[in-house]
Amino acid sequence: MTPKFHSIEISDVRRETEDTVSIAFNIPEELKNEYSYKSGQYLTLKADINGEEIRRSYSLCSAPHEHEWRVAIKEVENGQFSTYANNELAAGMMMDVMTPTGNFILEPNESNNKSYVLFAAGSGITPVISIAKTALEKEPESQVTLIYGNRGISSIIFREEIEALKNKYMNRLRVVHVLSRESLGNKIQKGRIDLDKANAIYTQILSDGPIDDVYICGPEDMILAVKESMSNNGVDSKHIHFELFTSPLLKEEKISLPTNSPKINSNVSIIIDGDTYHLNLSSTGQTVLDAAHEAGADLPYACKGGVCCTCKAKIIEGTVSMDVNYALEQDEVEAGYILSCQSHPTSDKLVISFDD
Ligand code: FES
Repeated sequence: MTPKFHSIEISDVRRETEDTVSIAFNIPEELKNEYSYKSGQYLTLKADINGEEIRRSYSLCSAPHEHEWRVAIKEVENGQFSTYANNELAAGMMMDVMTPTGNFILEPNESNNKSYVLFAAGSGITPVISIAKTALEKEPESQVTLIYGNRGISSIIFREEIEALKNKYMNRLRVVHVLSRESLGNKIQKGRIDLDKANAIYTQILSDGPIDDVYICGPEDMILAVKESMSNNGVDSKHIHFELFTSPLLKEEKISLPTNSPKINSNVSIIIDGDTYHLNLSSTGQTVLDAAHEAGADLPYACKGGVCCTCKAKIIEGTVSMDVNYALEQDEVEAGYILSCQSHPTSDKLVISFDD
């Protein structure tokens, strides 16, 4: 289903830490189906701030079985939306909220007997706590280890909720806090989650049993370090799931058309909600998403940076080149999916669909 915005009432705003609030939405009964979600998915919020339309995606920290839709928003320096959310939003206000999307998910199965290892740093805990709650609640035989990096104790988002989970699932949840600026009295819990720390955590804490799935959410350098460590320690990359919450730094991964590629003028057709939009687009010009917006098509997007996959569409005919892709898995690319915010046509004719 194509993601869509609806105007939704804020039901609760709760301060989680000095610089983080969580915001719950009152999803009307008739929209509950459209807003049903999997643990790890996110909502994209849209607001006019100082005359400018700003969209940001925030992961749901609630879990589906809690029948709640709650996101957490950490105020970042110069962050227009996060500053607005932390200071202006209140229960009863209306907000444009897109239906849930995202590939960083856990689909629980009651008969699973798995060992999950979850790594989070800072506000990267948001989808991870949702995944932890679902694994613990919906898979009674599964074990969860949460490794959570922060500056200090006061910046630990959901500290009390994590403690309550530890008490509830005493034999199935292990939590290891790692603090960069405070000491918990031992070496393993002091510092940042980098490659050395991830290796040390593996050796001292995780190597006592098999690991079935690893979920990682945080800044890119932390994700790369944990991925490397886990795969060096034998976890199949297919079972290492990750989500970036900041813009990627790896610009060298950018895939560009070779400079000697001939410029192609393509006839592009875009199918969305049963309507078809036609436009002419050059391979060296705007992205499909930007050109389509200019032509009046209301295509879904959030980050426009190749990170979130809200703008995902399927190629029906033709080919594209993507500037960057941090969101689609290799098998999705092979199945013809593209990020329209990163795509330029490379064939005379291009047909893409948001409805597939
Ligand atoms: S809008 Fe986020 S990947 Fe395209």
